[in-house]
Amino acid sequence: MRILGIETSCDETSAAVVVGGTWVLSNVISSQIALHQAHGGVVPELAARAHVTALVPIVQAALAEASVAMNEIDAIAVTHGPGLAGSLLVGVNAAKAMAYVLDRPLIPVNHLEAHVAANWLREPGAEADPPALPAVCLLVSGGHTELLLVERPGRFRLLGRTLDDAAGEAFDKGARLLGLGYPGGPAIQRAAEGGNPAAFDLPRAMQGDTLDFSFSGLKTALLRLIAPYRLPDPPRPHLAPGLFAEHRAPSFREGLPVADLAASFQAAIVDVLVEKTMRAARDHGAASVLLAGGVAANRALRDALGVAVAAEAMKFHVPPFAFCTDNAAMIAGAAHQVLRRGEQAGWDLDIDPRLPLRLANEPDVGRWEI
Ligand code: KG4
Ligand code: ZN
Repeated sequence: MRILGIETSCDETSAAVVVGGTWVLSNVISSQIALHQAHGGVVPELAARAHVTALVPIVQAALAEASVAMNEIDAIAVTHGPGLAGSLLVGVNAAKAMAYVLDRPLIPVNHLEAHVAANWLREPGAEADPPALPAVCLLVSGGHTELLLVERPGRFRLLGRTLDDAAGEAFDKGARLLGLGYPGGPAIQRAAEGGNPAAFDLPRAMQGDTLDFSFSGLKTALLRLIAPYRLPDPPRPHLAPGLFAEHRAPSFREGLPVADLAASFQAAIVDVLVEKTMRAARDHGAASVLLAGGVAANRALRDALGVAVAAEAMKFHVPPFAFCTDNAAMIAGAAHQVLRRGEQAGWDLDIDPRLPLRLANEPDVGRWEI
């Protein structure tokens, strides 16, 4: 089954063609980074407008790259949540129009389920390598940090989650404090390259024996370390109504040890993520460990978790970089499972900016038994 996936939940416009939930024929992504950089973060109105202009050419490019004609597509899958309302609306309405015109099923995909499903994606010609189950998956994105037990594809038990900031949010806030800009994760990773991860002793909040996370104390500790270097902000000019404020990076007096701070900050996040993931994997007898979400693109995290898993009798899976941050291949991949569960959307499909991940250990799971 050839599925066309569409992803517009945040600041990437993406379309992809995936066969059988695994084989990625194309995955075209238009990033809005340059658009939002001046504002220091994603501006929802600008994101939605950029999706409108980018979407049709991106879908055409995804079909062309896959050498598939529009009428050879068997189903249209789209992210309907969670995400930014205006951005989600663009993708959902475009997908509806395509499914209606082509008379094909419209498949609603949860963006979080899709991040996990990225672990099943493969380039054509590669060997299929589906993760052995049950697996423990660390899902780390801009808005989410969750430890999941994956019992079957698309069936999750929640083992732990962040009590405050998500891991990606911690990277983004840390980068902003250090004046490294948006998106914060890649900026911290770059800045950390020449730094010493042991230079500063930043807190690792372990939340006792639980599998929950907390990153807000780490951010405060970083703030304290940089405070002595921080110069006062110059006054902001008055803005005419309707204009978005330009982001101003903080300024520092000489000597701020950016590389050491970034490396120590990154190490503190990675240590906690790896320790808890391994604890969860051991406690729940996982056959494999999966990494998913935008933060899964982090080199230090991929390496450290890979080393920790290799020390146990488990297999480690992490998607290639292009399938970690937001992309439509993961949407088309997850859609395969959604369709197998018999979930197809009607023309009344709506966006749900706060759509939760459906969990097997929540009371209403009987409704969703597959
Ligand atoms: O999954 P994603 O692309 O979007 C959401 O669904 O949120 O994740 C975005 C998050 C951002 O917080 C970004 O800073 C982080 O992933 N991220 C990284 C890296 N690349 C992206 N964090 C650490 N290291 C990276 N290399
Ligand atoms: Zn995402």
